Amino acid sequence: MNASWETRSVSELSDRIWHALSSATEPGPDPWRTPVLATVGTGGPSVRTVVLRAFTRPGFELIAFSDARAGKILELDRNPTAAWLFYDPTARVQLRVATRMRLHWRDAVAQTYWHRLPEDQRARYRSLAAPGTPRPDPGESGATGFGDESQFAVLIGEMEELDWLWLGPSHHRRARFRRSESDWSGYWVEP
Ligand SMILES: Cc1cc2nc3c(=O)[nH]c(=O)nc-3n(C[C@H](O)[C@H](O)[C@H](O)COP(=O)(O)O)c2cc1C
Repeated sequence: MNASWETRSVSELSDRIWHALSSATEPGPDPWRTPVLATVGTGGPSVRTVVLRAFTRPGFELIAFSDARAGKILELDRNPTAAWLFYDPTARVQLRVATRMRLHWRDAVAQTYWHRLPEDQRARYRSLAAPGTPRPDPGESGATGFGDESQFAVLIGEMEELDWLWLGPSHHRRARFRRSESDWSGYWVEP
C-alpha cells in the first residue's frame, strides 16, 4: 500500500481508504490483502485471517471466499454481523470495519466468482472432508475432491461503519465514518 495518510480532510481520507482497499485486492504483498474477519461464535468472539478478494463501489462491499462448511459460515448464518480488521505495520494504519454479511452458496453470485477463480485456487474449495474434520496425518498435498463449485461460498460484507487510526511519526490521528445509503459522513475523534 502506497497511500499517504497525511490529510486534514475527512472526505479526502475516505477516498484514500477506498483506494487502499481497492489496491489490496490485487495479488501482492499488501498487508491489507489479508484482513482479520471477526464473527460472533456460540461461545464468544471468533476471528480468522481471510483474503480480501474484492471491494465494490458504490455498494461498499468487502468480499471473501470460504468453504461453505467452515465454522464462520455457521456463525454468520446465526448472526450476520461481522467486523473486519485491516492493519499495515509499516504505515502503522489500522482500519476497523463493521459489516452486515450476506452468504452466497450454490447460487448465481457464487457461480460468477467461481468462474473467475484461477483453476489452481479452486482445489481449496473441493476438499471431500469439511474444514476442521480430524484426520490421521497432516496430509501431503492439496485437497482432492468433487471437481465442482458445490462447497464454494462467497461472503459479502456490506460496510456500515469505519474506524481509522494512524500512528504517524509525529502525530496520531483517528477518524470515524458512518454510512447512509452510498454516502459516508466522517469526523475526527481523539485517538
Ligand atoms: C494468510 C491466510 C489467508 C487465509 N485466507 C482465507 C480465506 O480467504 N478464506 C477462508 O475461508 N479461510 C482463509 N484462511 C484460513 C482461515 O484463517 C481459517 O483458518 C479457516 O477459514 C477456518 O476458520 P473458521 O473455522 O473460523 O471458518 C486464511 C488463512 C491465512 C493464514
